[in-house]
Amino acid sequence: MRIGMLTSGGDCQSLNATMRGVGKALFNLFDDLEIFGFEDGYHGLIYSEYHKLERSDFSGILNIGGTILGTSRTPFKQIREADENGLDKVEAMKHTYRQLRLDCLVVLGGNGSLKTANLLSQEGLNVIGCPKTIDNDLWGTDMTFGFHSAVNIATEAIDCIHTTAASHSRVFIVEIMGHKVGLMTLYAGLAGGADIILIPEIPYHIDAVCNKISERYKRGSKFSIIAVAEGAISYEDSKLTKKDYKKKLVDRKYPSVSYELAAKVFDKTGIEVRVTVPGHTQRGGSPVPYDRVLATRFGVEAAKLIQKKEFGNMVALKGNDVIKIPLKDIAGKLKTVEPDSQIIKEAKLLGISFGD
Ligand code: F6P
Repeated sequence: MRIGMLTSGGDCQSLNATMRGVGKALFNLFDDLEIFGFEDGYHGLIYSEYHKLERSDFSGILNIGGTILGTSRTPFKQIREADENGLDKVEAMKHTYRQLRLDCLVVLGGNGSLKTANLLSQEGLNVIGCPKTIDNDLWGTDMTFGFHSAVNIATEAIDCIHTTAASHSRVFIVEIMGHKVGLMTLYAGLAGGADIILIPEIPYHIDAVCNKISERYKRGSKFSIIAVAEGAISYEDSKLTKKDYKKKLVDRKYPSVSYELAAKVFDKTGIEVRVTVPGHTQRGGSPVPYDRVLATRFGVEAAKLIQKKEFGNMVALKGNDVIKIPLKDIAGKLKTVEPDSQIIKEAKLLGISFGD
């Protein structure tokens, strides 16, 4: 049995834990096994840069963040384009796979990476996907590994801000990752006790945000914490065409959505506003226990799919069970926050404003 493995896209805390799950289970399932790790994501598969992974390589990495293989972003829309030397990337990946006589390629990746995994599967390669991303925005799985570790860090950031915000009677904005999806911000905002949570799925009205701050101020809470998703959008901007909004982002004088919001809140309320952006710290450090367990389970189930030759699937969490779902059914689909979902209604009943 000859297996290839790669980690692609932005890293997250339990990539190593997942590879450990796959590797350890495979070594227990097959006597005659060789595993090849491709370096820096699809780059390694395209340019045949890989090394053999021994059983010992999967030891001692359960709690180590990052990825022992390295990763890179290879946007799906560029995958069909030739590289600067005219190399056809898809053909090159197929060539590497065949030259190494692989029986299966295991891809640990998020949305774009699993789209490429699906493409390779449709091109005839045996592929298994494992759902990675701190954003938890992959359709078809209740949870991706990395999400809870990142939420933990974002929550700690809000916790730290709480004490200083209260001492200074300031408004604090904490900007949370998640790309175009607000799940991380929703979870960290709830866990950190944010007063206002702004997510891309619920465009905000600046007056609603300021009213909430003023209302709290009048009640004696002179500080407010706003958890803002990096992809949050105002109601006015949500009415722009995609093209016009993109242009606005390029032209705006603020480094991110939070700084623009801070300026607007200060203009309207006169209260001091500070912005904190934990940024890539959210993808760093050790995985939390939840992610270690989820990653391990995903890894083991991926190995079982290989044993059963059930290729072209991604492992996914449904309730408490790890299931398989065809890559073609999930490729290119985004999981977002439903504005009418139970969790949003619960948060609203608690008094949290979403700026709507
Ligand atoms: O997809 C994970 C993620 O961390 C997003 O939350 C964020 O928008 C993006 O990656 C950042 O990407 P990069 O590491 O390329 O700056």
